[in-house]
Amino acid sequence: MLFKAAISVLLVFSFYLVLFGQLISQSCEGIRAIASSCQKLILLADSGSINATKSQITQFKGESGGVSKAASSYNNQSLVNKPPLPNSDTSAIILLAKQISELSTQISSCFNASTHPEPNFSASSGDVPKTPEYESLRASLNDTAVDLLRLVNGPKNTIRTYAFSHYDLAVLQISVERGFFRDIPLQGSIDAGMLADKAKMDKDRTTRLLRFLATRRIFEEVESGSGVFRHTAMSIVMARDRDFHAMVHMQMDEMFKAASELSTQIDRAPYVSDNENSAFCARFGLPAYAYYEQNPQKGARFKQSMDAWSQLDGQVTRLVSGSFPWESLKAGKIVDIGGGSGHISIALAREYPSLRFIVQDLSEQMLSQTKEGVLSLGGRVTFQRHNFFEPQPVHDASAFLLRQCLHNYNDLDAVKITRAIVPALEKCVPGTPLLLNEVILPESGSTARHIEHHLRQVDVTMMVVLGAKQRSRSEFERLLKQADPRYEVVRTFDNPMGVGLLEVHLKAS
Ligand SMILES: *[C@@H]1O[C@H](CO)[C@@H](O)[C@H](O)[C@H]1NC(C)=O
Ligand SMILES: *[C@@H]1O[C@H](CO)[C@@H](O)[C@H](O)[C@H]1NC(C)=O
Ligand SMILES: *[C@@H]1O[C@H](CO)[C@@H](O)[C@H](O)[C@H]1NC(C)=O
Ligand SMILES: *[C@@H]1O[C@H](CO)[C@@H](O)[C@H](O)[C@H]1NC(C)=O
Ligand SMILES: *[C@@H]1O[C@H](CO)[C@@H](O)[C@H](O)[C@H]1NC(C)=O
Repeated sequence: MLFKAAISVLLVFSFYLVLFGQLISQSCEGIRAIASSCQKLILLADSGSINATKSQITQFKGESGGVSKAASSYNNQSLVNKPPLPNSDTSAIILLAKQISELSTQISSCFNASTHPEPNFSASSGDVPKTPEYESLRASLNDTAVDLLRLVNGPKNTIRTYAFSHYDLAVLQISVERGFFRDIPLQGSIDAGMLADKAKMDKDRTTRLLRFLATRRIFEEVESGSGVFRHTAMSIVMARDRDFHAMVHMQMDEMFKAASELSTQIDRAPYVSDNENSAFCARFGLPAYAYYEQNPQKGARFKQSMDAWSQLDGQVTRLVSGSFPWESLKAGKIVDIGGGSGHISIALAREYPSLRFIVQDLSEQMLSQTKEGVLSLGGRVTFQRHNFFEPQPVHDASAFLLRQCLHNYNDLDAVKITRAIVPALEKCVPGTPLLLNEVILPESGSTARHIEHHLRQVDVTMMVVLGAKQRSRSEFERLLKQADPRYEVVRTFDNPMGVGLLEVHLKAS
């Protein structure tokens, strides 16, 4: 054991030694050494044994289809030496497999019962249904199937896959940047050389990148070794859906670059998280908002992908008709704090013809972007310039809406923003709701792991981009109490995959 550990320490260590060597000398020797150390580390990890010798590695590499051959001979062996049957009541693996089998049957009959064809990996296959029933089956199956793979693959393989993900991202980054998804024809196929010309880069790397993606079922090589590629189900959505492509592109461009700066930024300011001390700001030299103002094309792409995201979980529709009983406010006046160009107020005004709206925003630019839609609403949507850090000026509202605002701020600022509404709420009718339209993080461990994982990715996005955060209901409660002890969350409208609503009242003290 000790010996194995020593070798792996030595290998990792020699990797750093040669790395430093290279930094100092920039010699080819050094580069070769790094390359071979890297390769060794990867191959050793791949062969599952730190005990592989150099000749084993060459042999491994020399064999065509080495990995799959090794895998199939492993399969053959395991067929020959059948292990004794495990106790199916206690084997975690068999229990998971049974759940997967059960869930798969339900999913399959879901397709069987609908006109929706069962998916496959070819480009002619569509996406999966978005029905709540399907979503919930998918959520359970995903967690179970991933857990089974984690158990079967073991800790080292699982972490190794994780630790190598930056290569996957780097490859995806190039393919969106160079237009691979756009330039591979929707039907038929293309030679990697022709694609390379369109992408304005060399054929060799283009081919290698495409083959890399094909191992993830993103594009496929028409025939092994042909160098001719076509779309798969995974890649064609990127070609067909421009909004979705914009979202992926934005993630792979500024977000990926900023995220890689997060650790260094924490080194610089270990105890501060705010806009100026965000990874985004460190990477681009500007806070995100200023960056997007200076780079209008990226700003447009950012907006496009945000729109794609809100469509993805239908959050606008949900806010308008799926959560708060807006009709109970009768002919009331709703203050849409930080409402930007007012698209939510406009959507609500269309749906509820007796409600009136005041859209407040600091940015003149936002306020001046008034949509044509407003004119047809007979003055029921008006605009007002207001900085939400200052006391709320409207004192006769039926409700205040703070939409997707607090997650842009750290706790200190979020307390100031909610506190600034208190004097207005004191003057309004008791029970006037303050509606916080925000992602409500599940309490840890209370929902499907992959759903929590996705929401925590959004939380880390806020950390990277703005030094800000997403909050759970109890975190919102704590924050509101800090702003004013009379604040109370009276109900929540949850949306497990996206933006929910918290109804907050100022209770009599
Ligand atoms: C290396 O592998 C061989 C056979 O595969 C085995 O006999 C030997 O004990 C292993 N050495 C170490 C250090 O694990
Ligand atoms: C696996 O077994 C099959 C038939 O039993 C045989 O044809 C094949 O060559 C074996 N594969 C390897 C890699 O040993
Ligand atoms: C699918 O439907 C057919 C008939 O409509 C039925 O015979 C078959 O058993 C169903 N399959 C599943 C997996 O539910
Ligand atoms: C994949 O699904 C599509 C759409 O349902 C279908 O037309 C096609 O035949 C399927 N392909 C395979 C290989 O099953
Ligand atoms: C499936 O679960 C894994 C692990 O929790 C998660 O990373 C992944 O995003 C999930 N996939 C989908 C499509 O939801």
